[in-house]
Amino acid sequence: MELEIRNKKLSDDEFYKIRKEVLNTWETGKDVDLDEAIQYQKSLPEHKVFSKKLLAAKAENKTLVQPRAGVGLIENHLELLKFLQNEGGADLLPTTIDSYTRQNQYENCAEGIRREKEGMANGNYRPFLNGFPAVNHGVQGCRKLIEELDTPLQVRHGTPDARLLTEITYAGGFTSYEGGGISYNIPYAKNIPIEKTMRDWQYVDRLTGIYEEAGVSINREPYGPLTGTLVPPCISHAVAIIEALAAAEQGVKNITVGYGQLGNMMQDVAAIRTLEELTEEYLGRMGYFGVKVTTVFHQWMGGFPADEAKAFGVISWGAAIAALAKATKVIVKTPHEAAGVPTKEANAQGLRTTKQLVNMLYDQIVTGPRLETEKAIIKAETRCILDKCLELGKGDIVVGAIAAINAGIIDIPFGPASCNKGLMLPARDNTGAVRMLEIGNIPFTNDLKALHAEKLAERAKSEGRDVSFQMVVDDVYAIGKGRLVGKPVK
Ligand code: 5AD
Repeated sequence: MELEIRNKKLSDDEFYKIRKEVLNTWETGKDVDLDEAIQYQKSLPEHKVFSKKLLAAKAENKTLVQPRAGVGLIENHLELLKFLQNEGGADLLPTTIDSYTRQNQYENCAEGIRREKEGMANGNYRPFLNGFPAVNHGVQGCRKLIEELDTPLQVRHGTPDARLLTEITYAGGFTSYEGGGISYNIPYAKNIPIEKTMRDWQYVDRLTGIYEEAGVSINREPYGPLTGTLVPPCISHAVAIIEALAAAEQGVKNITVGYGQLGNMMQDVAAIRTLEELTEEYLGRMGYFGVKVTTVFHQWMGGFPADEAKAFGVISWGAAIAALAKATKVIVKTPHEAAGVPTKEANAQGLRTTKQLVNMLYDQIVTGPRLETEKAIIKAETRCILDKCLELGKGDIVVGAIAAINAGIIDIPFGPASCNKGLMLPARDNTGAVRMLEIGNIPFTNDLKALHAEKLAERAKSEGRDVSFQMVVDDVYAIGKGRLVGKPVK
């Protein structure tokens, strides 16, 4: 049976019926008491509340720094986060969730925890989990973190069905939550129907709305970088704005929209500026008022150089752009990115490098005609996609987004999901800005199509080769090999 879905606030009847099932899927669900959880959230001091810290930073034009981090056991995770807070100077803290939890495999988490504990007791500890299994640790386990840290905490993951995780971490005192029905499906899953993830994320957003209505503002963050591989700004902007509109419908009032660094300065600054402007524009256009919008800039999400000194170069450039674009926060990479999960020391180094740049560039801002040109391009492109979605959905953005994904109107480069068309191909132009080598079914005007063709032709000419798929491949590997544009080596 096809799941019927519209962009409409879930009724209390619908929500509480689903909620019963959700809380029954694992034993820790029974410890969630919504009224008590709301009281707990209300008791948190202001400096532990994500949404408040973001709004204060936005008011001062400051860029906050946030790492990624998560390990399996509560004590170890706490030690890691304390280190990142005290030695790394993190303004905001994450809790990166392990892969089993992301797949709702709580039995496997339990086994991982058991083995890790055994290792700790015997002095031969080895990690079995690649993040923090928050569902298994339950409400009280999460609260241990909240109580011992002086920094707001966010759940960062990649979970298509995150409903139980949301219930437990909100009751556990987390004040920010990443993800969305498109951004945690297409880059993360192969065969989960998009209707199902949109529906399950309506639940997450409705729960956030219920807390909001009770006076607890929990920050929501659609996942901006998507596949992290040459995603043109208009694609990630369209997805972020759709997820922001879907969240606002369910009652979410504090939203951070995100974008992953591509590497060309003007394009990256223009992307952050337009992301905020367009999100506010569409929220207003669709009648959602009183939603506070902030931005997150992700340092380069693609392949990294293995040489740590070179990695610091990539990290620094991302830090500089985040500050020049005045993003509200920047998510930081580490010098261990090419190798895997970083040590706490390497993680803190990435933070301190970033903090130095962000502080140094606080008083500078990028302006000028080249910036305005890039902004105009991104805005025109994003509007083409979003307005087509609204047309297909007859004014319903969720219905339209699903139709658009199926038609390749929203097309995420290298997205593994079977609903993703994969007809559009991105490649860099001669200055490193990401353009489209194949437009696929992206509904651009003829002017925009011509612009992309021109930019790619210009590059081909300068490289003395034809425009081809080889450029895409060369660009995917370029930064790891020490450059931005994948030009053939002479
Ligand atoms: N701790 C730190 N970083 C992590 N990442 C994934 N899991 C963890 C973890 N447990 C990082 C990857 C990559 C990004 C997508 O998330 O290194 O940078």
